[in-house]
Amino acid sequence: MMTLTRFAGWPVIAGAGLAGLSAALHLDRPCVVLSPSPLGEDAASALAQGGLAAAIGNDDDVALHMRDTIEAGDGLCDTRAVEAIIGAGPSAIATLLDWGVAFTRKGETDLDLHLEAAHSRARIAHVSGDSSGAGIMQALIAQVRASSRIVVLDGVTLDHIHVIEGRVRGVWLNTGQFIPTNHCILACGGAGALYVGATSPSSNTGRGLAAAARAGARLADMEFVQFHPTALDVETGGGRSPLISEAVRGAGAVLIDETGERFTDELHSRDRVSRAIARHRLDGHRVFLDARSGRGGKGLKQVFSRQFPGIARVCAQYGIDPDRMPIPVRPAVHYHMGGVATDLHGRASVPGLWACGEVACTGLHGANRLASNSLLEAFVMGRAVAWDVNNAARDRHSCQNPIRPPRLSSASFGPQMDRGAGILRDREGLQALTSYLTPLASRDDHALVGAAIASAALRRRESRGSHWRVDGEDSACAGRFHFTLEDIGLQER
Ligand code: SIN
Repeated sequence: MMTLTRFAGWPVIAGAGLAGLSAALHLDRPCVVLSPSPLGEDAASALAQGGLAAAIGNDDDVALHMRDTIEAGDGLCDTRAVEAIIGAGPSAIATLLDWGVAFTRKGETDLDLHLEAAHSRARIAHVSGDSSGAGIMQALIAQVRASSRIVVLDGVTLDHIHVIEGRVRGVWLNTGQFIPTNHCILACGGAGALYVGATSPSSNTGRGLAAAARAGARLADMEFVQFHPTALDVETGGGRSPLISEAVRGAGAVLIDETGERFTDELHSRDRVSRAIARHRLDGHRVFLDARSGRGGKGLKQVFSRQFPGIARVCAQYGIDPDRMPIPVRPAVHYHMGGVATDLHGRASVPGLWACGEVACTGLHGANRLASNSLLEAFVMGRAVAWDVNNAARDRHSCQNPIRPPRLSSASFGPQMDRGAGILRDREGLQALTSYLTPLASRDDHALVGAAIASAALRRRESRGSHWRVDGEDSACAGRFHFTLEDIGLQER
């Protein structure tokens, strides 16, 4: 049967990472969760090593965490989003503890908090040092499994959002089936896998973002793609790059080159450290993270595998022993600050559409995300969306058996994205990328998202945060870019 009548009128959550499961668990009614893989597998949230940032330490407060977030965001954070989401950090930790997340403790009561780059305080709550995402997801999955209200469809993804007269009336699935609904919640992650060797799972190609854009939703901050400074520099056969957490630098490890020379401040914000490494590599150097004799005598020798057991295991797979040798690292695409523009209820510009987590853009991160603010945002905005949907009218769906739109392709443009819209950008490269992708965008989701990133990057002629124009002008660009596909000529009026 083409229409899944059993679920008609239920909120549909596309994506099963932290944002999607937080939304599902905070809803007060039956809902469907579309999970591309069996729950917990292949969600970027489960790969997060560092943890969840929240101002809960004795020496910390929300104002300091806000200040660090705004500084990292390089002038483009939406301060209302910063206030709301960072302010919700302590309550997020309390709920996650209630739900059984086994955050690592220091003594009987206090949580052990890690320091990460550009944070002025140790405020990263973590699970076993570097398994934070997996630990959080495990607890939420147990809650979801115990709920009779939540139906998870494994191996199912969103294909299209069905909009009639400007509002959501249903969703098409990759199975060819249709669910009539007035509430579509996008929580399907970012677009990192559009690039070669990103740290993101291969499913993070921006397909949800493309579906929202084709449905007429406004996008924001699309030019800001974050590179993590320290992915493991090993041959992965084109697969995802393993991550070496910020927390390793926070614990004292230093960045050196093949001569043993330190060439940057490891605790600068992510964009600055990534650029310093990229430039040093362009000058012909190899770069390593040395955990043996760290900053201020804070070496991790003999304690590395106890503090970071997951990372030590991955290093061992490649014959690297962090106690005895420096770890080869390079920057890799890690996170997309841009996405579907939402308000603080997670509402997109199309009525009936919400977005949360990496696919969304609340403005919290500005031009450069502060480490470990993403799990916080995913949890808090999943909850905000659910609260909003709980208050939305349960109006009856009216759309049955609509005509299925044509399937779209999703080709691979990784080398083109790396070359044209990488860590260091210029007009020529961005123009070439735009000209290449734009003609393909009407029939290919990856081309559409790539073209939207390139188009916004072309328009921002200054350098800011993660967007670095080597041909940049000194004068600042006015504000943030919000646009629909029509506005940038990627969809006919
Ligand atoms: C890390 O552990 O370095 C990643 C954390 C993040 O991306 O916020």
